Amino acid sequence: MSTDRKGERVIHIESTFDVSGANRDTEMFAEFIARDAPRSFLDVGTGTGYLAIRLALAGSDVAATDICHRAKALAERNARRNGIYLSVRISDLFDDEAGTYDAIAFNPPCSARPDPRFLTVVKEAIRRIEPLERALMHHMPKHVITFRRDLIHRFIEGGSCHLNPEGRLYLLLYGHELSFLEAMPHDLVVTAHTPHALRRRNLAFARLSRRPDRPSNG
Ligand SMILES: C[S@@+](CC[C@H](N)C(=O)[O-])C[C@H]1O[C@@H](n2cnc3c(N)ncnc32)[C@H](O)[C@@H]1O
Repeated sequence: MSTDRKGERVIHIESTFDVSGANRDTEMFAEFIARDAPRSFLDVGTGTGYLAIRLALAGSDVAATDICHRAKALAERNARRNGIYLSVRISDLFDDEAGTYDAIAFNPPCSARPDPRFLTVVKEAIRRIEPLERALMHHMPKHVITFRRDLIHRFIEGGSCHLNPEGRLYLLLYGHELSFLEAMPHDLVVTAHTPHALRRRNLAFARLSRRPDRPSNG
């Protein structure tokens, strides 16, 4: 087991060209969720498996899904590299999901299937300079905006049926998506978190929890 300078366990993640890698955003997202210390955690769209692995190491009882078979194989391999057993279920969001959880997270993709041209542009932007990446995110194509909005809506609708009473949904979003999240028809309270490092890149975390029960009138 290796640790970093702060004495925290280092997670070893292999990524592939067609499965989104775990970057600093993912690490910060994992830390954000881990702070709430959920007893049970569902990682929807696990990708490399980073969130599931991080939460399992923090002591959560973890389940993970992905729509992509290559992501499933990669996440399971990454979990083994870090000494964790993870069986990723192939699922479109909450299809066939039977469990309930304290925390359910999703970092939505920009397209249904990885589009090699889009991935190339994004990876190049990230590799090169931050302003280029920011410009790309601010000029997101309309079909990407619509695709993500529908997926996020389905995640909230499905996810709210699989939360424990005190459970929460977590999303990693682009900043401009917070306003439509609040306008969406759902019964959850949205709390936005935009640490400085994320705001500069037009990214935000959202935590959605049930409204506290209103006092009954007797
Ligand atoms: C942006 S990546 C996030 C990966 C990882 N969770 C992270 O935060 O680094 C999105 C992941 O969601 C998966 N995905 C896309 N649509 C999905 C769906 N409808 N149901 C489940 N997973 C989906 C993709 O295959 C991909 O692995």
